Amino acid sequence: MIWTRWWERWRWRHGSRDPALHDLATTFALAEDFPALRAVIARRLREVAGGEAALFCEYHPVRRAYVPTAGDRIDPDSCADIAIHLDGPLVKWLGVNQEAMGHPDPRGAHDFLGPEERAAFDAHRVRLCLPLISVNRLLGIALVVSSTPLALRGDRIAFLTACGRQAGLACEAAGRRGQELHRLRSEQHAARLAIAGRLAAAVAHEVRNPLTVIRSTMQLILEVDWPWEQKRALLQSVMEEVDRIDGTVGRLLHLSRPAEIECVEVDMNAVAEEAVAFAQAYGAGAGVTLVRKSTRRPLRVTGDPRELRSVLLNLLLNACQAMDAGGVVTVRTDLVTRPRSDGTLQALTVVEIGDTGPGMAPDVLARVFDPFFTTKATGTGLGLPASLEIVQRHGGELRLASEPGRGTLATVLIPAGSVD
Ligand SMILES: Nc1ncnc2c1ncn2[C@@H]1O[C@H](COP(=O)(O)OP(=O)(O)O)[C@@H](O)[C@H]1O
Ligand SMILES: [Mg+2]
Repeated sequence: MIWTRWWERWRWRHGSRDPALHDLATTFALAEDFPALRAVIARRLREVAGGEAALFCEYHPVRRAYVPTAGDRIDPDSCADIAIHLDGPLVKWLGVNQEAMGHPDPRGAHDFLGPEERAAFDAHRVRLCLPLISVNRLLGIALVVSSTPLALRGDRIAFLTACGRQAGLACEAAGRRGQELHRLRSEQHAARLAIAGRLAAAVAHEVRNPLTVIRSTMQLILEVDWPWEQKRALLQSVMEEVDRIDGTVGRLLHLSRPAEIECVEVDMNAVAEEAVAFAQAYGAGAGVTLVRKSTRRPLRVTGDPRELRSVLLNLLLNACQAMDAGGVVTVRTDLVTRPRSDGTLQALTVVEIGDTGPGMAPDVLARVFDPFFTTKATGTGLGLPASLEIVQRHGGELRLASEPGRGTLATVLIPAGSVD
């Protein structure tokens, strides 16, 4: 194949780590999504080619042609007459040679343009056509516009071809990321449906029990001729069951409240301090000592202080409740950074709540975030799912690690700085 020869030759001459190419690859890789990538490809290829404007053409399956979908210093809609047909001479030439084509081209390659392609290129002063190729697939075509012909002698064609190839690789990677995202979204959707199903079953269970009690009691009151005092006691229990349903529905509504948080700047150390103060009295009654450790301050996050406090309080109470024979709860706050997938660093505030309680068996740990899951006689099983929901609305994570006999460690991670 012809391209293999020039490619090898070019690589041999320039080395595969040409800094300009490396720089291009980096800017392409940093693009957030495909529209951003299209725009950055058009801009960077215009810059390296020295043109006045550039177009990114994408394959349009219905028109069976590559058509402009993005432009740098040019509106792609103003070039709607450009359609590089899949079966046309230009795509054929690009597919065989996998090289840039000038218009005019020092090698005379522009002679291969079809009459329609030539007319459109002349009308828009397209001076360079770069195939964006990855693994022999033409993922797009970049067109560079200039009022005067471009200098394409010497190694220029080879270099510009290599730039187009970097863009092709970036398109391929973006396409894969898009597919992966799509897969993740459908998985998340399925997971949400599964949770909704479990929730519906749990609600039905929680509401049906009191309803059964209410129904049978009412029946008794209606059918049996008891003195009023006795009926009053029965009606009292009906009231209690009604309250139970009301409480369940109220907690559920809290759980499914729309994602609205009052966003203010909050110091996580202060939030932790408050939660510890609230839990102190409760812990003292159960023989639990609360220990506070903080390495840096202040730890700024953007969020809802009341919601965040309720998360920490939930975790603290769980820790105290796990240790009916007394123990120690340690609350540690800190700031950590971790790399994002794009290589930049994300700062996170960490709150760790560790207890010296009995811990949890793996089958319990696996279910703690299920609504209504509780191992306590008077538990609601809504503390952890509600906490998880709040933390996730702050863009954070809530993790629980536990081992039987070794206690439990709850970790709350909230992005430092602002919540998008
Ligand atoms: N620190 C902990 N140690 C041991 N078990 C815990 C701890 N935190 C939570 N759990 C388990 O998770 C379950 C669910 O907790 P939660 O959602 O807060 O509901 P509740 O506290 O009402 O039971 C608890 O019933 C308990 O079994
Ligand atoms: Mg709880």
